[in-house]
Amino acid sequence: MSKLKILVMNGPNLGHIGKRQPEIYGTLTMDDLPGMLVGVMGSAASGVELVHFHSNSEGALIDRLERAREEGVKGIVFNAGAYTHTSLAIADCLAWIGLPCVEVHLSNIWARTDQPLRQRSLMGERCIGVIAGFGILGYALAVQALYQRIATV
Ligand code: DQA
Repeated sequence: MSKLKILVMNGPNLGHIGKRQPEIYGTLTMDDLPGMLVGVMGSAASGVELVHFHSNSEGALIDRLERAREEGVKGIVFNAGAYTHTSLAIADCLAWIGLPCVEVHLSNIWARTDQPLRQRSLMGERCIGVIAGFGILGYALAVQALYQRIATV
């Protein structure tokens, strides 16, 4: 059986997860994701193929989203970093490409009450769900959610 291809995307300032402000974003890195995924999904994790992409540029993120469908990607896990709060262009892209996307944040953006701008997501309404506040585990939970949504319909 072919694996379920899921694109895991990280936006600006998320190329150094684990080093960047660890008191907010944690010390684990994207390298810890495969192990987490097995912890969350068990043997079902072997049915998933993760494709990773990181860019600090809005246009490159949109280009990657547009390419995803042609490459057989079935779902997207997307931490758009600060573009979450500002990018109508990314929200517009998610609205038309027709792939299910889970928005992920390492921190709980709604608990960051000292910075109200972070509590707003422009892309959220174009996603099937949002996971925030669980660090790298959030990516694994998002992959599991996509797997269950896609593999069971
Ligand atoms: C973030 C939250 C954003 O507000 C911030 O700009 C980031 C990281 C998170 O994962 O918690 O870059 O998306």
